[in-house]
Amino acid sequence: MTIATSPVRLVADDVPMSTPLPADVRIRVRNLTKRYRTPRGDVLALNNVSMTVNAGEKLVLLGPSGCGKTTLLRCVAGLEQPDEGEIEINGTVVFSSDRGILVPPEKRGVSMVFQSYALWPHMTVFDNVAFPLTNARVPKSDIRDRVRAALAMVGCAAFENRFPGQLSGGQQQRIALARAIVSNSGVILFDEPLSNVDAKVREQLRIELVSMQKKLGFSALYVTHDQTEATAVAHRIAVMNTGSVAQIGSPYEIYERPDSRYVADFVGATNEFPGTVVGRKDGLLLVDTVIGRLASRDAVDVDAGQPVVVLIRPENLHVTAEEEGLNVMGATLESTMFLGLFTEYVALVGDKRVILRSMRQELVREGGAIGIGVHPEHVRVFR
Ligand SMILES: Nc1ncnc2c1ncn2[C@@H]1O[C@H](COP(=O)(O)OP(=O)(O)O)[C@@H](O)[C@H]1O
Ligand SMILES: [Mg+2]
Repeated sequence: MTIATSPVRLVADDVPMSTPLPADVRIRVRNLTKRYRTPRGDVLALNNVSMTVNAGEKLVLLGPSGCGKTTLLRCVAGLEQPDEGEIEINGTVVFSSDRGILVPPEKRGVSMVFQSYALWPHMTVFDNVAFPLTNARVPKSDIRDRVRAALAMVGCAAFENRFPGQLSGGQQQRIALARAIVSNSGVILFDEPLSNVDAKVREQLRIELVSMQKKLGFSALYVTHDQTEATAVAHRIAVMNTGSVAQIGSPYEIYERPDSRYVADFVGATNEFPGTVVGRKDGLLLVDTVIGRLASRDAVDVDAGQPVVVLIRPENLHVTAEEEGLNVMGATLESTMFLGLFTEYVALVGDKRVILRSMRQELVREGGAIGIGVHPEHVRVFR
């Protein structure tokens, strides 16, 4: 670790090895619970959270502000002490409530990159990046080579004698990245590393980060509240909801196969229609909704008569020349908005608004009659 640490209790200096992890697991979090004690009562920040990060994998923690992302990262780093559970890093138990193990941050073999860069203002760029190595008493000549290599990797070789205050936000975050990779820890924790830089720089840094990770092969636990960033960076995404993991999966699974309304809503735009289950026919689940009868391929366990909510993403609805058929509804085009990458259409089915997105320019004028359709594959049904 390269950072000032909060007071933690060192229980075991010689940390016992646990049952060996599969060689490809770098971080394992098991049943982690963390409460903050405040004058106004306890805050349950993490509630029985479990996950693993494999070798060379970027696992992204995605969720709204306050859902416990930073707390989880700080528990892994050793900057917070969980109440219950177990954390293993590179095959070593670094925290266990049952076994009374608490390894201090600097002995966990992880680096961390913060939203706020956390560089020392009174130290040069070179000294900031060198810090983890100086701390680990690496020989001076090695330090010089490794710092320069790390600075070259983030495109900041020319800045080694500057102070952080003489650099832009994006450049400072590059220096923080160099400091994280210089020790070759193999595990890097990122807490919203791109949130403080402006949009153009953010996109650039995101691309560089992905290619750097490919080159160096470190494992990463990466926190963001931004769905686009999560999808761009992640091998897998863990969507969090008030201290718990709502779903873990590939960006594709999370987006196309959300297993709750919460996840569906958080990772993209949706149309939501209340409805009532009619029954099953030819492998399709039929639901009567406020916009008409819809067929879904979902295997959700529901009975006829049961109230449900149907979710359809705007890009899965299309304008069709047909006027009736399976999952086709007659509608009126209310408005059209050209948004660059796609055009957004608002249609009225009866008095219900339905939002469609299409890469095509539809030849319908506002107020005109259209048919809108959706494939049963794209009709999500939730209890
Ligand atoms: N030091 C603290 N003391 C008390 N409550 C805290 C503290 N840090 C975080 N919390 C609370 O714990 C919850 C999770 O916070 P945090 O992990 O920072 O969420 P996120 O990073 O997802 O925004 C929130 O309700 C937050 O207010
Ligand atoms: Mg946070």
